[in-house]
Amino acid sequence: MPDSLTITDNRTGKTYELPITYGTYPKYGATIPATALRQIKVDEEDFGLLTYDPGFGNTASCKSSITFVDGERGILRYRGYPIQDLAQNYTFLEVAYLILQGELPSESELKEWVWEITHHTMVHEKIKKFMDGFRYDAHPMGILVSTVAALSTFYPEARDIADPGVRALEIKRLVGKMPTLAAFAYRNSLGMPYVHPDNDLSYTGNFLNMMFKATELKYEPNPVLEKALDVLFILHADHEQNCSTNAMRCIGSSQPDPYVALAGAAAALYGPLHGGANEQVLRMLDEIGSVENIPDFIERVKAGEGRLMGFGHRVYKNYDPRATIIKETADKVFEVTGRNPLLDIALELEKIALEDEYFVERKLYPNVDFYSGIIYQAMGFPVEMFTVLFAIARTSGWLAQWQELLEDSEQKIARPRQVFLGYDTRDYVPIEKR
Ligand code: CMC
Repeated sequence: MPDSLTITDNRTGKTYELPITYGTYPKYGATIPATALRQIKVDEEDFGLLTYDPGFGNTASCKSSITFVDGERGILRYRGYPIQDLAQNYTFLEVAYLILQGELPSESELKEWVWEITHHTMVHEKIKKFMDGFRYDAHPMGILVSTVAALSTFYPEARDIADPGVRALEIKRLVGKMPTLAAFAYRNSLGMPYVHPDNDLSYTGNFLNMMFKATELKYEPNPVLEKALDVLFILHADHEQNCSTNAMRCIGSSQPDPYVALAGAAAALYGPLHGGANEQVLRMLDEIGSVENIPDFIERVKAGEGRLMGFGHRVYKNYDPRATIIKETADKVFEVTGRNPLLDIALELEKIALEDEYFVERKLYPNVDFYSGIIYQAMGFPVEMFTVLFAIARTSGWLAQWQELLEDSEQKIARPRQVFLGYDTRDYVPIEKR
């Protein structure tokens, strides 16, 4: 049996044969080339057949070797390694290296990578002045998006994206500087002085230092919280072709420098249906207020008055493996911080939703954002910072996908087609007749 698809156009009676190609798994990702449909025409004048796919529900936009997600079986792997193993046995910077380079680092490679990232955490003094220009109540995601874009002006050489050496340097700069920008955005909102990076600390330990250091001479992160944040960063590091990654690839396809492309990706992450969901979950739990109010809240969601934030996923239709790991991490964090009272509401909400026909029928399960915010809050992060934390972690994924795009000879500038529904040509109408 040939690996092809035969299509008969009932308008013309003509038959076409389209090749079927596969990725690593024959039963996952068998594709036909969309442009092959263009030969299907009613006559020579006809433009040819297009596919219509709002939201890319069934369109592969690229070939990728970075992250694999099987939504039916709740599987997530980076470069072949299951997320559970990565979260348990590796550090975030090891995982970031794996995602970016394709292989786990050797001991010496890891040492060098950590040293490089640690020594790229500082930002230009002018960045602080730039930050000072924001209003006292500016949302830290707005600050982060703008400031990452502004870095483009500090590193004009980054425009030379065809040079692998330049790309490698900008990647290290971005992975190193994102926590600094994030922490500065937070300190700016409090009117507190910025804290410089401490090179003795780990990636997450230093981030906690830049966020929370007060008058002590040396900040010492709590090892449990430092590890929990590291695990959360691993869980958020990449997730194949989601909205923000698609934005990174789309912007990257016109070949600007990585700073402005990453600012666009972070802007896509900010939305409440994507990375902004973790903030919205906390606001929702606060609004619900107590366990007795849950049934009424669920009824309102079912009636279409808003969504149950932190539930549902385009790909996961069984469970989100990241949510399971986050729940385990929560227990360890609460041993240190005390239990977040919102956890009881979240647990009860999950229980009721998982039994309710509306959610069962639509395969709506808790996603990564459902519990992450409860942990972040217990650790002392304000809700406005939740999506910023996601952005720090996702930076490695965005950059790996960007690099893969640039090295893929089949990729072109992203430019979708449309189905035009507007008017045909209309005649000029003088203003007095309109
Ligand atoms: N609460 C209530 N109903 C929902 C929800 C929800 N959270 N999510 C989906 N539905 C319903 C939706 O109304 C629709 O019902 P019907 O068929 O009756 O019209 C059905 O389920 C399918 O929804 P959809 O919007 O077509 O699904 P999608 O794949 O386009 O959207 C989603 C996926 C994640 C945007 C959506 O589930 C959602 O809005 N969830 C809440 C926001 C959220 O938690 N986002 C974080 C996603 S995971 C991490 C990340 O991406 O950052």
